[in-house]
Amino acid sequence: MTQTVLGIIGGSGLYEMDGLQDPSWVNVDSPWGAPSDALLTGRLDGVKMVFLPRHGRGHLHAPTTVPYRANIDALKRLGVTDIISISACGSFREEMAPGDFVIVDQFIDRTFAREKSFFGTGCVAHVSLAHPTCPRLSAACATAAEATGITLHRGGTYLAMEGPQFSSLAESRLYRSWGCDVIGMTNMPEAKLAREAEICYASVAMITDYDSWHPDHGAVDITAIIATLQGNGTKARDLIAKLPALLGGDRAPCPHGCDRALDHAIMTAPDK
Ligand code: ADE
Repeated sequence: MTQTVLGIIGGSGLYEMDGLQDPSWVNVDSPWGAPSDALLTGRLDGVKMVFLPRHGRGHLHAPTTVPYRANIDALKRLGVTDIISISACGSFREEMAPGDFVIVDQFIDRTFAREKSFFGTGCVAHVSLAHPTCPRLSAACATAAEATGITLHRGGTYLAMEGPQFSSLAESRLYRSWGCDVIGMTNMPEAKLAREAEICYASVAMITDYDSWHPDHGAVDITAIIATLQGNGTKARDLIAKLPALLGGDRAPCPHGCDRALDHAIMTAPDK
C-alpha cells in the first residue's frame, strides 16, 4: 500500500489553494526546464497535497508556453500519485451551460506547438491513451462535485486547441459536428504526459461560455469568461476540499493500470 499524494493543477482563476495544513511553496528543479511556478505543498484531512498554478501566479504562461513536461515532472518528483486538472472550457452543447462542470473522459488533440512526450531519441515508449483519464479518480471528482451541488456532466470529449485565439465560427461548427462536447487549450499534452509519468489523471472542466457556435450567444470573449470563472473558483475549491476524504490516505494500485502504464510500453532494448 502506498500513500496518496494528490496533485491539483489549477487553471485560469485558480492560482492559490487555501485551507492546507503546513502550507509551503517549494521550488522544484526539473531537467525539462522550470515549472510554471513554485508548488504549494501541505496536507488536507491527513492527505498530502501539492498544488501547481498551471499559468503561474499572475497568469504569466499562455497555453502554448505552459511548461507541461516540467510541470508533470515536478509533480512526480514530489511524489504525486493522482492529478486533478482544473480548467476553463467552452461548451458545444446547449445542455452543457456556463457554470456547469464536466468530468472529461476523452480528448481530441489539435495542439501542434508543444512538446508532447518524455520519450524520444535514446528511449522510445508508446503508452496507451485509449482511456486517457483515470475512471477511479474521475468518479471521485464526480462524487465530490455532486456533493457540492455543482451541475455536473459525467463524461465528455474535450477538443484541445492550440490558441491563444479562440475558434472561428467554422471551426466551432466543425468540432460540434465531430461530436466534441467542450473545448479548451490546456489539457493536452498534460494528460498524455501524466500517463507517461504513470500518474492517474482526471480532468474537471468548468464551462465558461458557448464558444462561438451558439446563435443566441455572441462570440466568446474573455470578460464573460472571467465573470463565470469568479463563481466557478469557489465551486472548484469546495470540490477539492471533499477529495481527500473520498480518496483516503492509503492507496491501492490503480485498478485501471494508470500507475503501470510503462510496463509494456518501452520499445528500446534495456542495454541501449
Ligand atoms: N477556455 C474557455 N473557453 C474556451 C473556448 N471557448 N475555447 C477555448 N478555450 C476556452
